[in-house]
Amino acid sequence: MTDYKNPGLTLISSEVSPGAIRWRSPSNIALVKYWGKHGVQLPRNPSVSFTLDGAATDTTLSYKARELAGEGVEVELYLDGELNKGFTERTKLFLEKLLPVYPFLKQLSLKIKTSNSFPHSAGIASSASGMSALALCLVSLEEELFEPLKERSEFNKKASYLARLGSGSACRSVYGGAAVWGALTALEGSSDEFAVPVSESLHTVFQDYHDDILLISKSEKSVSSRAGHGLMEGNPYATARYAQATRRTDEMLSVLRQGNVERFGEILESEALTLHALMMSSHPPYILIRPNTLTVIEKIHQYRADTGLPLYFTLDAGPNLHLLYPHSIAAEVKKFIREQLLYFCEDKMYLADRVGKGPERLEVSE
Ligand code: DP6
Repeated sequence: MTDYKNPGLTLISSEVSPGAIRWRSPSNIALVKYWGKHGVQLPRNPSVSFTLDGAATDTTLSYKARELAGEGVEVELYLDGELNKGFTERTKLFLEKLLPVYPFLKQLSLKIKTSNSFPHSAGIASSASGMSALALCLVSLEEELFEPLKERSEFNKKASYLARLGSGSACRSVYGGAAVWGALTALEGSSDEFAVPVSESLHTVFQDYHDDILLISKSEKSVSSRAGHGLMEGNPYATARYAQATRRTDEMLSVLRQGNVERFGEILESEALTLHALMMSSHPPYILIRPNTLTVIEKIHQYRADTGLPLYFTLDAGPNLHLLYPHSIAAEVKKFIREQLLYFCEDKMYLADRVGKGPERLEVSE
């Protein structure tokens, strides 16, 4: 067990000078899905993801000594320049959960300014990028107020651990390339408590893989991921699913090393359909894909049959499709999207993204 609890991490308030820290952290797309959790945000099975490049959250955390001591954490969250009550409340709860690790948070007055690179209403989850950006700011804050962590890997591990407590999938966004979250016998150092990087063993074909996100519907989801994870507890297929995901994460890791894009695609699509089958077999059952999701899936299958090109899809917990493919076929695939798929997207929108290098610390702008 990793134990980051540290009651000694407190400040002498009169010695704190105000400051700010800024991180940009990307979203990620799961290749093998995390679906089902227990305890304090622990996954029921291992998962592996590509970290994205363009879809990211830019967060600035400003701090100063708190004037009046109070019970909870003093924080305000501004989304795109506007105070957001809902996110302020959620962030306050998250930071209060972290008090055993960072008791000094109670001694500060915090202001968080955050914005996403993707449109707010695009129906794309921002919890992975948002929570990882905030976690990275917090570990940098610890280093600034106390002392630097000894190793870069320690910094990332702690940021991943904290991000996980905010949103499970966020722990994988701390690393560029690809990351695994969840203990796997074959992967040394892997853990249910934080993600580990696996980008070093990524075959070149996957290093600049594309992920174009087709916005089938931008509406709010009818069932949140949190509720979806909860419903896995009563799902009759849960045990078989967790065992399958463990085998698949193992296999996906060798596929990522070998560069086998066909086997990659087979696992990828089966994972997407399995995720949604689990939703449909929950009690009560629910459906997050839309008719246009299925139409586009059929078109992708037909395109593959006609051209033999390795274009495959995956889904998150929603109706939007992620199209994954190697850079070598980008021109053909973009033409196919424009000519045959955009018609089925809301406002004819898609976001072109690809595998990215991971979070970046930025200069604070005034
Ligand atoms: C389908 O990480 O959003 O995207 O831990 O409750 O915040 P919480 O859930 P979240 O679940 C993501 C589920 C998924 C698959 C994945 O990213 O692995």
